[in-house]
Amino acid sequence: MTETTAVGDATHRYLQALRDRPSRPIDWSAAPPTYQRYPTEGRIVLPWRSSEPTGRLLRDLLGLTRAYWVHPTDQAGQPTVGPPEVRLGRPAPSGGALYPIEAYLATAGPTAGLYHYDAAHHCLDQVRPGDHRAALTGLLAQRPVRLPELLLVLSAVFWRNGFKYGDFAYRLHCQETGVLTAQALALAEALDRALTVHLRFAQRKTEGLLGLDGVGEGALAILALAPPHNRHDTPSELPSYTDLLARPAAQAVPQPTPVSKLLPHLTALHRAAGKPTGTPATVRSPARPPQVRQPPVSLPKPQPRQLSEGVAHRASPPNGFLPAHTHLVTLATVLAAATAGYPGDLPGTHRTPATVTPYLLIRRVAGIPPGAYWYDAGTHALFRTGDADAPGLVARGPLQPNTRPALGECAAVLIPAGDPLAGVDAFGDRWYRVQQIEAGLLMHRATLAATAHGLTARIHSDGTNDTTDAALGLAGTRQRSLSFLTLGKPRPGCLRDAGSATA
Ligand SMILES: Cc1cc2nc3c(=O)[nH]c(=O)nc-3n(C[C@H](O)[C@H](O)[C@H](O)COP(=O)(O)O)c2cc1C
Repeated sequence: MTETTAVGDATHRYLQALRDRPSRPIDWSAAPPTYQRYPTEGRIVLPWRSSEPTGRLLRDLLGLTRAYWVHPTDQAGQPTVGPPEVRLGRPAPSGGALYPIEAYLATAGPTAGLYHYDAAHHCLDQVRPGDHRAALTGLLAQRPVRLPELLLVLSAVFWRNGFKYGDFAYRLHCQETGVLTAQALALAEALDRALTVHLRFAQRKTEGLLGLDGVGEGALAILALAPPHNRHDTPSELPSYTDLLARPAAQAVPQPTPVSKLLPHLTALHRAAGKPTGTPATVRSPARPPQVRQPPVSLPKPQPRQLSEGVAHRASPPNGFLPAHTHLVTLATVLAAATAGYPGDLPGTHRTPATVTPYLLIRRVAGIPPGAYWYDAGTHALFRTGDADAPGLVARGPLQPNTRPALGECAAVLIPAGDPLAGVDAFGDRWYRVQQIEAGLLMHRATLAATAHGLTARIHSDGTNDTTDAALGLAGTRQRSLSFLTLGKPRPGCLRDAGSATA
């Protein structure tokens, strides 16, 4: 594979490859191991139940927190013959439950080092000893004011789900990174700790420090946990990037499969995203939709809860929703939570996600006629962009067998949209990732808020297509639907706890 030269080439080719993607049978025998393992010398076993922030954060991000029975169904959710199975689930959703995202930690203190989180055993395996916090912080485009207590690098093992989804897997890697970022922000808030989100960092140097080749596994985002308010530790001399790089890093066993030949467009895009770019002062915000039909629908005041209240009970509904109406205030609360600002390194994220804007298909929300809408986070109002048949039009589009019934029964669908090329000038080929991460963040915040208010939600990636874009009023614009989150009332027994009664 030759190195792409012009900025944006890899993004254009990747988008084209997804459009031309043939449907092909899945070779399940090509699936790599589910869990990333490192040599166990220097292992730190984390307590399963503890309020200690590192263990708690990792457990509720990537730990094996759920065991559940699965009764066999067909693609449309109808029961089929076969024995039920017990499966292990993790706290946050993952496309096809394949969990391609890994976490590496730079920690402080007497056991300071760079560690890999072994999700299967809830422990930390040392990649390299030594305090990596200063070296890693030095790779961030926007450095936190205080040296972080902990830095968390989220990486993707590309083949983990690439064997199933092909080049499309990169979109899932990026969205799942956004999902985990939203989950980490919610967990940090519950721990009363500040977490900052870094999407602009020196990717190749970060991968070098972690001992990753960027071809089997690549770094996608860095999260920095600030020390508690009352702690002012000013460490004297921490090892530099060059000092640390001179020491060997432990390698995963087995090494992740290199995908340059298997997934050429994914590889090219990830590599191109690693090229340094300037410092964008602004992001061209997602445009207001052209065909807004007035007047706007002002939404009621949200009734916020901590998003972490949704963590324990979240699960993607396996077989659609109870076809019942949802209160308008619940939708208003979900939308406000999804679009709230966050401490990120893109210009404007303190107000709202910078690269995506939410659209909705409304089916069953008391007080709002069914149709397509754009949500304006600034005015907390809905603007109609498509008529009552918009959800029906989407249902007639190319959908997977489980999406159509879910669409028929849900209360609403949240659809983050954005221009996949708008930021290439400013961000280079990193733009694709940044935007998909924000799409994942927006959807998961909506999911957590919905769960905290007694609803349930499922992502249906196939819902993003030309038919959906047309139904939302995006045809002829540069904006595209980026994902598709169905929201609605859970069927009895769907959640492990009934949640609240406000829905
Ligand atoms: C980025 C992303 C894409 C997903 N796409 C789909 C999809 O296209 N269809 C679907 O039924 N579920 C989809 N899911 C949901 C996963 O299948 C689900 O999270 C996984 O099976 C684990 O189950 P859980 O969410 O109950 O923990 C997606 C999840 C994520 C995070």
